Amino acid sequence: MLNNILEVRDLKKEFTLSKDRKIQAVKGISFDVRRGEVFGFLGPNGAGKSTTISMLTTQKEATSGDILIDGESLVKNPASARRKIGVVAQHNNLDRGLTARENLIYHARYFGIDNKTANKRADEYLERFGLTERQHDYVRSYSGGMAQRLKIARAIMHNPDILFLDEPTTGLDPSYRNILWEQMLELNKAGTTIFLTTHYMEEPEQLCDRIAIVDQGELKAIGTSDQLKALIPSNNIVSIKLSNLKDEFIKEAKSLQDLEKAVIQNDLLLLYMKNEHPDFNKILEWVKTLNTSLENISLSTSTLDDVFIHLTGKGSIINE
Ligand SMILES: Nc1ncnc2c1ncn2[C@@H]1O[C@H](COP(=O)(O)OP(=O)(O)OP(=O)(O)O)[C@@H](O)[C@H]1O
Ligand SMILES: [Mg+2]
Repeated sequence: MLNNILEVRDLKKEFTLSKDRKIQAVKGISFDVRRGEVFGFLGPNGAGKSTTISMLTTQKEATSGDILIDGESLVKNPASARRKIGVVAQHNNLDRGLTARENLIYHARYFGIDNKTANKRADEYLERFGLTERQHDYVRSYSGGMAQRLKIARAIMHNPDILFLDEPTTGLDPSYRNILWEQMLELNKAGTTIFLTTHYMEEPEQLCDRIAIVDQGELKAIGTSDQLKALIPSNNIVSIKLSNLKDEFIKEAKSLQDLEKAVIQNDLLLLYMKNEHPDFNKILEWVKTLNTSLENISLSTSTLDDVFIHLTGKGSIINE
């Protein structure tokens, strides 16, 4: 068996935006996904994540480049690739005029799964995703979160080797988000490779074996969460908790010497200093000028969020 289930070589996609405007949505990216891993594809809005997934799943044709699924060219043999991949698209592409159960069964039958197996799997997945009671209702009557769960159930009906999920947890409430992750990890344990995009940083950090960070159609970094965190110096980030945090503090922080940038993350003000071991006294003096009380100040260790901000420049008001 090949070590890599997916190989991507110099993949490009150009779109026409208007009569005289084109965009390189994907600018020649190359990477491998190993068999059996959970692989995260992270990037800000418009980075080219969905475009990449569309090409990897035969839904969009690449402008140039190669895609190998299980060692076989997807461009030359799309039908064979389709049997090996499952896709959960970002938009709702269910058949809304069919019931949930029919969506699952027709999908399995399309892939040549026999009727008995298809029905058995449908029972199992409807139960797993909490849809058994609503299985005979038209999909058009489904809520967004229910449709999302059904899309995932449908994608695994033909038992794919690699499952692509484009923002799978968006629109799911926290309990189904957890259920979905449990399901994905269970599928992964049973041998399915998982490729997903997400906006929620804490998800890939905890659950992905490796993560690629993309921005403006380019691959910025790839590796384990620890490897990515090692890309940025960690002891130059000062994390400050204030009783009253205001956006304007980001601008005011510009007056600090040695400040690279300031960012608000959750309920913390993070100061990225140019030098390691920053001068706490100076920072404390600056905090006093803000007319709010200091609850906590510490040197912070870097998170995937910091790596993302560092590599993409997104999330920092100063940089925008
Ligand atoms: N069919 C299309 N025609 C023209 N431009 C497109 C098309 N699809 C995507 N684009 C452009 O390609 C770029 C990448 O879009 P894409 O949807 O891949 O981003 P994304 O990373 O999935 O973003 P999001 O996080 O918002 O889902 C954007 O600039 C977008 O406007
Ligand atoms: Mg997208």
